[in-house]
Amino acid sequence: MMMAPMTRSRALPKGVPSELAIEYYSQRASAGVIITEGIAPCASGLGYARTPAIENAEQIAAWKKIAGAVHQNGGRIFAQLMHVGRIAHPANRYIDQTPVAPSAVKANGQMWTDAHGLQDLPTPRALDLGEIPSVIEDYAKATENAVIAGFDGVELHSASGYLPMQFLSSNTNERSDAYGGSVNNRIRFVVEVLEAMSQAAGSPSKVGIKISPAMPFNDIHDADPVETFTTLVNAIGNMGLAYLHVLQSAPEPSYFKILRPLFNGPFAAAGGFTKDSGNATLASGAADFIVYGKLFLANPDLVLRFAEGLSLNEWDSNTFYAGGAKGYVDYPIAKTSTV
Ligand SMILES: Cc1cc2nc3c(=O)[nH]c(=O)nc-3n(C[C@H](O)[C@H](O)[C@H](O)COP(=O)(O)O)c2cc1C
Repeated sequence: MMMAPMTRSRALPKGVPSELAIEYYSQRASAGVIITEGIAPCASGLGYARTPAIENAEQIAAWKKIAGAVHQNGGRIFAQLMHVGRIAHPANRYIDQTPVAPSAVKANGQMWTDAHGLQDLPTPRALDLGEIPSVIEDYAKATENAVIAGFDGVELHSASGYLPMQFLSSNTNERSDAYGGSVNNRIRFVVEVLEAMSQAAGSPSKVGIKISPAMPFNDIHDADPVETFTTLVNAIGNMGLAYLHVLQSAPEPSYFKILRPLFNGPFAAAGGFTKDSGNATLASGAADFIVYGKLFLANPDLVLRFAEGLSLNEWDSNTFYAGGAKGYVDYPIAKTSTV
């Protein structure tokens, strides 16, 4: 059982995770592995209110306390590196730069800002060809920082319409250079980022990747997601990565079935799993790990509750991103006969 990456919007100004996060992640240390909330590799990768980064000493020191506390409680924890690309509002950032993306294509949608409430997403600036190596280098540096902070590994967030998926997808990538056009060009950014992260981590076995083929979240669309994602997974299938994490967002086609045979390594399935559907998926051999999101959010002791057949707390979506302790560190721990 993996705990899914979940943005919780409780970080302090300037991308520093708060002390409350120590308790939040420690409470969930019985997960097979925790994948953290999305963490910006660099300041230009931040987009949402009160979200964290891992580019400077203050941020690294705060993450070190979190990873250390999870380890002390017997858990393992991967840092999810999330560069939002065009899904960013300047009011949520500590640098004054226009958000960047593969192409200057604005996302239809709005984003919450603490300063001005809901705001339209701005039109991003297209990255110059010459800038792309420095963005890749930002992921490598963030990986080194995650190692310094004591994380067991890192996950590349290549899902949910953020920067890597903006490179992969035809509606957000209008480039005509080596990073756009053909499917082999559109996957190039993700492949090169994974190579850089693997080198920075010391081994590809410390690097996972999350994808969400055909999920329309954040106004993302690809003309042929089956072709795009089979090409991507074929290209990374023998790199020796820690795992491939696939979020399935619609019943058909099953990207678990399509992609698993192409990936030579552990396969993590995500998207609305329950105890029963997770067990059935593992028993059928369709996945090696099941990733639980909202159930872990609301049940710090989800592993124990599943093992002992206990009832589950319900999640409160009003407090997902609300800030503060409520709905973050106060979900009840089960009282069991063995306690
Ligand atoms: C509050 C919340 C925040 C999320 N933030 C992230 C994130 O930062 N990175 C990410 O990859 N997915 C994020 N997700 C998606 C989850 O990782 C997961 O894929 C999704 O919730 C489906 O799993 P579930 O049905 O078990 O919750 C988030 C989901 C929720 C509910």
